[in-house]
Amino acid sequence: MNNSLLNQKKQETIPETLPVIPTMDVVVFPNMIVPLLVLDEKIIKGVNHALQESKMIFLVAAKEYVDSQGAIGTNDLYQVGTIATIMRLIKIPEGGIKILVQGVAKGIVLDLVSDNDILQARIEQLALETSDAETLLPQIRNIKSVAERMATSGHSFSPDFHIILSKMQDPEKIADFVLSHLTLTVEQGQQLLESKSQNELLESIYQYLNQEIRVAEIQEKIRSNARESMNKAQKEYYLREQLKAIKQELGEDDLEEIDEMYEKLDSLPVSDDVRNEVKRQISRLERTAPDSLEATVTRNYLEWIFALPWDKETEDNLEIKHAKEILDQDHFGLKDIKDRILDFISIRNLRKDGYAPILCFVGPPGTGKTSLGKSIAKSLGRKYARISLGGVKDEAEIRGHRRTYVGAMPGRFIQAIRKAGSNNPLIIIDELDKIGSDFRGDPSAAMLEVLDPQQNKTFYDNYLGVPFDLSKVMFIATANSLDTISAPLRDRLESIELSGYSLEDKIEIAKHHLITKAIEETGLQPDDIEITHDILQDIIGSYTRESGVRQLERLIHKLCSKEARSLVESNKKISFTQDNIENYLGPRKFMEDETDHQDHVGISNGLAWTAYGGEILKIEAVLMNGTGKLLLTGQLGDVMKESAQAAVSYARAHATRFGVDNETFKKHDIHIHVPAGAIPKDGPSAGITMLTAVLSALTGKPINAQYAMTGELNLRGEVMPIGGLKEKILAAKRNNLKHVIAPYKNKNELKNEQEIMKDIDIIWVQHIDEVLEHVFEQEKKIKKSKPKVAATG
Ligand SMILES: Nc1ncnc2c1ncn2[C@@H]1O[C@H](COP(=O)(O)OP(=O)(O)O)[C@@H](O)[C@H]1O
Ligand SMILES: [Mg+2]
Repeated sequence: MNNSLLNQKKQETIPETLPVIPTMDVVVFPNMIVPLLVLDEKIIKGVNHALQESKMIFLVAAKEYVDSQGAIGTNDLYQVGTIATIMRLIKIPEGGIKILVQGVAKGIVLDLVSDNDILQARIEQLALETSDAETLLPQIRNIKSVAERMATSGHSFSPDFHIILSKMQDPEKIADFVLSHLTLTVEQGQQLLESKSQNELLESIYQYLNQEIRVAEIQEKIRSNARESMNKAQKEYYLREQLKAIKQELGEDDLEEIDEMYEKLDSLPVSDDVRNEVKRQISRLERTAPDSLEATVTRNYLEWIFALPWDKETEDNLEIKHAKEILDQDHFGLKDIKDRILDFISIRNLRKDGYAPILCFVGPPGTGKTSLGKSIAKSLGRKYARISLGGVKDEAEIRGHRRTYVGAMPGRFIQAIRKAGSNNPLIIIDELDKIGSDFRGDPSAAMLEVLDPQQNKTFYDNYLGVPFDLSKVMFIATANSLDTISAPLRDRLESIELSGYSLEDKIEIAKHHLITKAIEETGLQPDDIEITHDILQDIIGSYTRESGVRQLERLIHKLCSKEARSLVESNKKISFTQDNIENYLGPRKFMEDETDHQDHVGISNGLAWTAYGGEILKIEAVLMNGTGKLLLTGQLGDVMKESAQAAVSYARAHATRFGVDNETFKKHDIHIHVPAGAIPKDGPSAGITMLTAVLSALTGKPINAQYAMTGELNLRGEVMPIGGLKEKILAAKRNNLKHVIAPYKNKNELKNEQEIMKDIDIIWVQHIDEVLEHVFEQEKKIKKSKPKVAATG
């Protein structure tokens, strides 16, 4: 009804002919208020004409740019336009006018007339066909719902566009309102203007709105696609940030740590397999509560991974001259051994593929095995780490514990690598012979794997759970003896034997190395202390009975400590003398005991060889009333027991020759005892010593205590070769014995050891009779003839 009222009013007042204003880039709709700039004279005249009459004009869009110079025909303008009233006019100083117009009704041009220089048109008013409410309602709803969609998706024309619209009911007003917001081209506007019915208009408006929002949505999609295509890392970053926020909220703020780990992982030089495993563990840590046991385990693990020198490698210095200098600097003597080490370095020089046998230094404690290893590392310029296998029984010590184990750790090798800080250190496997085995597996089998260049390239430690390359590591082993090392392991080793040191060696070592070292360690100045040759000799003789210099080193250190204390306490230097040495080192342990060197019946000096070097091994024999039994005590092994039996049998078989009544054997038991009963002893080399002791007991003749002897005895009386002679001779010297009786068949091996044979008398024997001739001095007088070597040997 509003509509019809309006229409009526229009119909009343609208003249048939109106001045025309062509609009260039806008289509004006009825009810729309629009400002227009008019510059064209002819059009201005038309406006002025209108103002004098009905104040009405006809607005019609130009199909293309028109100026008044060209003839304007119906072809240049659309036919349907809008009748409008002029609301206001402003003259612009530069010429031209600005008018504000309001659309009143639609009209169609019937005729264009151009007279009096005014462009006029004969117009017929057009009314929009009204449609019934039922047809319009869905259109209105559609429009409102699009408007709402625009609002919720944030593409509305203005913030209250949809609110205003939602309150409107009148289709015409709705149309006017929306049209005033749409940005339309002239063509689009014209098309809407020419709509025949309300229904058609609303339908078109709906289409445009729909299009508007589709365009907006597509734009949004393009934008979000662009966002999606941000790389995955960025996405992960966002996620992690979110997770961080959540964790912070929960008070579990350990994310800096995790971030750092990811960062560290990026620069960790490892294979993809290892990287994946580590990544897995980090994300696991991320997902576990930071204070949980599991997190601690994972954290420890990751700490290990990051601490390992995956690609840190030092460069070898393979210069032989340099190596020789270092070895000579650090160690006195050991010429042969140093030569072999230099040979070994030369091989490494030539074989760049890293192949090298594994050196194993074998010898008594304190002879410099470990410290030689250290020197080799120094001369090669390699990092150094030491693994002590003493008492290792559990395979996991080598291969590592599984991580499920509480307090699990990597094996010793991975530990050593971490400590060394390079992937090609020199690792000293100390006390390889002390490795054990029990129910927890066989560590020496694991050792084989570690030392095998074929396998150790991908050494798998249970704790790490990923392989580590040990192939660049240089292994050097040490052992006191090779006997207890399993055969396959022994095959891998190139053993170099070190023997004990003589007194002179020890004094030199002390003077040039041990004292200097102790001075440094105790913070003294070199001339703060003087330890003379005599004192050294005294200390070695009275306080030590060792093959090496370990005890000596300790004693020297003790003297230096005393000196340091005296300097600090009373600013006085001590001068150590043989008289006051006991004040500092305690009472002498190995006094020159006269009785030790006295001849006794039934006591014979044997020489034993143990992993700790050579030793004097006294063997005692006594006769007791009895029935001819043999009694053996002192923890003797089977071989030693047998050799005792053999000795007694030999004595019995040759009883008459030795002047012993055969009855004696029947009426007596013979007891052979080897003191130091707590230490197990074995081996055949005490054969001649036992026979001497037994014969002495049987005959009552004392044995010359200046002799020490070693040699296996067979039933024909021949003296068979034995092992460890060097050590044994050194032991005899240490114990101030003057003569050593040894198997002739061992003579060759000492050909080049003049140093060892100095200051001692070595008697090479082939037959037991020669032994007896020396130790029972009376024997010489009794028997003039040479022993029956030829007959038996
Ligand atoms: N020939 C030597 N020259 C200098 N010092 C030595 C010599 N032999 C051993 N030492 C020193 O004696 C100490 C014990 O040596 P070490 O290497 O521990 O013996 P091992 O490993 O054979 O038991 C070390 O301080 C070492 O430097
Ligand atoms: Mg050692």
